[in-house]
Formats: sequence, C-alpha cells, structure tokens
Amino acid sequence: MTRYEGNRGRGAFPEEWDGGDAATLLPAHATQAAELAALDAGLGELYDRAARGLAGAGSSAELASRSTQVMGRERGVITALLAELPDLPIEERKRLGGGYNKAKRWLAEIEAAKRAALERAADRPDALDVTLPGRRPWVGHRHVLAQIRDELLDLFHGLGYSVYTSPEAELEEYNFTKLNFPPDHPARDAHDTYWVDDRVLLRTHTSPGWVRAMEERKPPLRLVFPGRTYRAEQVDASHMDQFHQLDGLFVDRHVSMADLKSTLNTFARSIYGQGVKTRLIPVYFPFVEPGAQMDVSCVNCGGSGRSGSSRCVVCRGSGWLEVLGAGMVHPNVFRAVGYDPEETTGFAFGMGLERIAMLRHGIPEIRLFLENDQRFLRQF
Ligand code: DAH
Repeated sequence: MTRYEGNRGRGAFPEEWDGGDAATLLPAHATQAAELAALDAGLGELYDRAARGLAGAGSSAELASRSTQVMGRERGVITALLAELPDLPIEERKRLGGGYNKAKRWLAEIEAAKRAALERAADRPDALDVTLPGRRPWVGHRHVLAQIRDELLDLFHGLGYSVYTSPEAELEEYNFTKLNFPPDHPARDAHDTYWVDDRVLLRTHTSPGWVRAMEERKPPLRLVFPGRTYRAEQVDASHMDQFHQLDGLFVDRHVSMADLKSTLNTFARSIYGQGVKTRLIPVYFPFVEPGAQMDVSCVNCGGSGRSGSSRCVVCRGSGWLEVLGAGMVHPNVFRAVGYDPEETTGFAFGMGLERIAMLRHGIPEIRLFLENDQRFLRQF
C-alpha cells in the first residue's frame, strides 16, 4: 500500500466528487500536475483528483467542504502527507517535501479562483434571488368560444331550456330533407357541404338536432342545440370551414311570433346590452315560415352608422348588424317528425358563436379561434 492509498483509505477523499476543469481556474494546471506526477506518480494523481474536485464544486458550501477534506488542518489529505514527512528517510523527505508544498499551494490557488468564480456568478442579475415572490403556476381557462357558449346556455337555462346534443356527422335526411330543403337546394351541393359518403355529411348547421329531438320526444319542448358545424367554405378573415352554432327550439300549442320576439329580445339585451335595439326582417329559410333574420343596433356606433366623422366600419354605415336566423317552425318539419301541424306550433332560432365573440371582443379574424395561439387565447 502506498501512502496515497492509505490516505484514500481513510475515506477523506471520495472518488465520486463531480469533477470540474481545473485548467480554466489555473492555466498552468496541466504542467503543474505533470511536474508532480514526474516527481511521484501517486502524488500527481492525488493532486489532479483534488484539483478537479475543487473546480467542480457546485456552491460555496460544497467548495468549503471539499477544501477541508483536501487541506483542512485536522483531516486534510495534503495536511496528513505533510505531517508524515518527518518520519520519512532524509532522501525521501527532500524529494517529496517540495512537491507536497507545491501541491498545497496550487490547490489553495485553485480554491481561491473557484471561490471568486462562484461569487461572480452569484452577483449576476439573473442569479437566484430567494426573496422574490414565486412564479405562479400556469393555469388554463376556457376557450373564448366555450365562454360564449356557456353564457348562452346559462341564459337559456334561465328561460327553461335544456341542452340537446346531436351528431356532427349527420344523415343528409336530418340535415336537409326533414328540414324541408327541396331536393335541388344548392346547400346540398358538394361545393357547399362536406360529404362522408352519399348519405352522410358533416352537418352544415345545428338545426338537424330539432328533428332528432322531436322524433324522440313529445311536445312541449324547450331545447337549445350547441355545437360545431361545417361548410365547404373558401377560408378568409370572416369564413371558416368549421364554426359553432347554437339553435333554439320552442314547441307547444298556441306559440306565436310574439313569443319568439320576446325571447329574442331577452337574448339580445343579455348578450349585447340592455340598451340594444332589435328588428326582424323577413328572410327565407326552408324550415321556418315565416322566417326572419334578427338585426341588433351596431355595437360599435350604437346605430348611428357613423364613428366620428367617418362611416362606422363594423356595420359599414347601416347602423345594424345581422345576428341570427329565426322563424315559426314550418308545418312540413312537424309532418316529417310525426307531429300534427294543426295542433302543434313552435318557433326556432339559430346563431353563430364566432360572430358573437367577434363583435363583443372586436376580434377581426375568424381563423384566430382555431389557431391555438396563447397570445390570442390568453386575452379572454
Ligand atoms: N340553420 C340556419 C343556418 O345555419 C340558421 C337558422 C335560421 C336557424 C332560422 C334557425 C332558424 O333555427 O329558425 O343558416
């Protein structure tokens, strides 16, 4: 056993220290290690191991503890070697004494350089400051369209409506035929609708939900139908080939256009503000008669059509915004589901959720809803 292994054997010098590059701290390290190794191979190895251990310390505390093990007054490995010198034969003492002292001095230089480097790192502006408040963990939230949907579901829940969901991949029969679309209606065309096969398509609106609900249930019905819808659109800033709608259906005896109007006014005030004005304009939809579109006074200009001295850009000067389709359920739709149109009456309405969100938040681009860009989504 050489005297170096003896020291290692005391356990004062763990092999498993993370090593660092001593040469970056003491440029002459390699030459010096070689000088000591030439003097005595064991000393060279010990020196190199100690130097790498000091250079690899991860903190001031770790550096202090490693330094104690190497050079500590009580148990330091180098200290112990120096203490053994007087017991050696005179020749050996002469040969090794200088080497031990050089090793000790160079290791002290490496330690000092390492301590300075650790202190510099701690002074850097990006160093850990334990007095700073913690970082809040990132918590997700509902998508802006889900917020609008839930707000609408809340509103209609308060008016006595329940939710009915129906498939996105729908039979042509439900999407069109039973909703009184004539066989040659252009919406059935492949240019306008995504077909899965010759009977199944991606629903172009949420209205087919009414047919399914009515086939399943008897009147009276008060239902809303939220969901995703698809059209083979040319995509641009205001058109996407998928979007979201919410339909409503009210079926009972003696339901009138006045009931429809009051329901839509309640909706409009809740979503667009108490002061909003509304108007119904006759419009053709195959599944309602009479059919209408509802406009609300422009959310941007309040209905004046002007903003400052120029034309309002939101309503293009008209003062009105079209927000939904509505009407009294067509007798043919009641016939298609087995209801007696002489006895049964009802109204329906359908709206686009993207449109509501865009008007409310001033969102200029429908594509933003689906891009999943946090910079956009975090704003709502
Ligand atoms: N389903 C129609 C569409 O997507 C919108 C609509 C119009 C729904 C009139 C209705 C309604 O419920 O009564 O264009």
